[in-house]
Amino acid sequence: MSSVMSFDEARARVEELRREIEYHNYRYYVEDDPVITDAEFDALMRELQELEKKWPELVTPDSPTQRVGGQPREGMVPVSHRVPMLSLANAFEEGELKDFDRRVRAALPGEEIAYVVELKIDGLAVSLVYENGLLVQGATRGDGQTGEEITANLRTIPTVPLRLRTDNPPPVLEVRGEAYMPKKAFADLNTRREEKGESVFANPRNAAAGSLRQLDPKVTAARHLDLMVYGLGYYEGEIPATHTGVLRWLRELGFKVNPHVKRFFSIGDVYEYCTHWEQRRFELPYVIDGMVIKVDNLAHQRLLGATLKSPRWAIAYKFQAEQAETTVEDIIIRVGRTGVLTPTAVLKPVKVAGSTVSRAVLHNEDIIKEKDIRIGDTVVIHKAGDVIPEIIRPRADLRTGDEKVFHFPENCPACRSRVVREKGEVAVRCTNISCPARLRENLLHFVSRDAMDIVGLGPAVIDQLLARDMVKDPADLYLLDEDDFLKLERVGPKSAENLVTAIAKSKENPLSRLIVGLGIHHVGARAARLLAGHFGSIKRLMQAGYEELTAIDEIGPKIAESVRNFFDRDQNREVIAKLEAAGVNMVERQTGAGSQALAGKTFVLTGALETFTRSEAKNIIERLGGKVTSSVSKKTDYVIVGENPGSKYQKAVQLGVKILHESDFKSLIMESGAILD
Ligand code: IVH
Repeated sequence: MSSVMSFDEARARVEELRREIEYHNYRYYVEDDPVITDAEFDALMRELQELEKKWPELVTPDSPTQRVGGQPREGMVPVSHRVPMLSLANAFEEGELKDFDRRVRAALPGEEIAYVVELKIDGLAVSLVYENGLLVQGATRGDGQTGEEITANLRTIPTVPLRLRTDNPPPVLEVRGEAYMPKKAFADLNTRREEKGESVFANPRNAAAGSLRQLDPKVTAARHLDLMVYGLGYYEGEIPATHTGVLRWLRELGFKVNPHVKRFFSIGDVYEYCTHWEQRRFELPYVIDGMVIKVDNLAHQRLLGATLKSPRWAIAYKFQAEQAETTVEDIIIRVGRTGVLTPTAVLKPVKVAGSTVSRAVLHNEDIIKEKDIRIGDTVVIHKAGDVIPEIIRPRADLRTGDEKVFHFPENCPACRSRVVREKGEVAVRCTNISCPARLRENLLHFVSRDAMDIVGLGPAVIDQLLARDMVKDPADLYLLDEDDFLKLERVGPKSAENLVTAIAKSKENPLSRLIVGLGIHHVGARAARLLAGHFGSIKRLMQAGYEELTAIDEIGPKIAESVRNFFDRDQNREVIAKLEAAGVNMVERQTGAGSQALAGKTFVLTGALETFTRSEAKNIIERLGGKVTSSVSKKTDYVIVGENPGSKYQKAVQLGVKILHESDFKSLIMESGAILD
């Protein structure tokens, strides 16, 4: 239908789609009450994307397609707040709330005082500036005077309106609120990080802060942040007369405002509401660390004013952190999908932060040593981010002498092979590629697109092969025939044939793909190509010592050590021998002269190419010795421009970087004598 559309029709449809998408986005994320299915929503989004692709001049920054479209920042850009972002004075007990009430009443004699009580979400304060209804700037609080510009990151949060929902927007409106990571997103993120052997975030606030300060908005988008607003900063134009009026207005403008807001006329009732939430806070899907009490009338607020640090019209009531004491009955080790050994304390069950806890992740060897946690210890525990049980410290004063110091195992509990801890890492790993605890992950990696690229061999088939004990390592895949696959559920004769063909075809893959497939820690596609190019065969690579490895340009100590650890393992050498016996290619194909034609050249890709996917283009460049980076600078040699290019294109023009269209890129590859597979 779009092919017969005129430009004006397209523009009208684009505007209509944007309104619809923003409406449904609002229903889904802010109101939590969607009125269409996800599939219907995706269809609207796709139609908009297609129209914008066809008519790029219709793309505007407030289009819902642009939420994750931002380019990585190059560094931090300071923003000075036109109205300082103050913090709040704290109260820890009822008496301090009463003192606050007395001060307020003394400053406003004869006035009726209304207090508004809100939840204090534990995230970080941000500012959003709207000009004529459009989001133009997002920033962190920083030191209160100067923050950091993070507009592109804040745009990725679905509850941040890109445009205010009004026909009559104020000329300038700065909205302030709390960006936070919900408990579930925090727990999932830490689980993923732990599996990869990365350090975990101590709480959702740190995780939210880390996610918002990312240079690349795509990383922020993947972190599932949310934002609730609680007030205004600088503004031009009319605003309501009370804080409750402001919150209502902000809700109408499309912001997510916390629903648990209440108004009271006595400080006793305020305190009761605070204690109500102090007990029920663990039921919420986000962490709150207290309540915020504000004088409702904005005229009263102005009269009360502020000190240098905090307003006199508001105070935070802070909750006691929930802790409990229990004993460590044992310390056990779990081997994760990536081979990381994670110690866990088995605890005598105890209630903390709303649920019974019987395990606490100890994360790694160093933490056990630093905290000096022993089996049999009485320990103080809490829940990081209200969800993850954690030992704060042992009660050394209660030791009897029967406690046992824990020694980290030297062998993997799942396969008994020796474990390694690489320099500069906290994680201890099992590096045996056929370790049963890691096998599924290793097989999936081995067959994946960037590795051996065995089409059709996905999790459904692999899980069945594992359940029936048909594979014990990646080499076993080459021993399967059609009859084997026909034993599996949902595999018919045609797919069995296709699977066997795909597996057989992968035997011819270039050596670098095999090296990627082995899943050596730190060795991705680029390092694999360098290693394959340098050594020419697996045999030579297996014999290479640390010195020889680090002598290769771009191969650092981390990669070298990890390669050595990998090949030093008998089990891994056995799998390689099995792969060789099965006929898998073990040598680098001879590439023609000029195959390093792009050595030392840096490329940036922007927009969609017709002939290649982005990762194919990247692979080709890297195979020819070039490098692909994500942002354009003066050091970039070429920017390859596809359809619908982003701002990298403009930047390249500005900096005078050479631009290659797809056809130029193809000629460049041909000239270099590369074989495209
Ligand atoms: S009002 C002038 N309301 O708590 C102070 N703050 O130190 C305006 N916070 O930095 C803050 N929930 O990050 C306010 N409902 C709420 C809040 C809230 C969380 C945070 C905010 C601020 C800190 C107070």
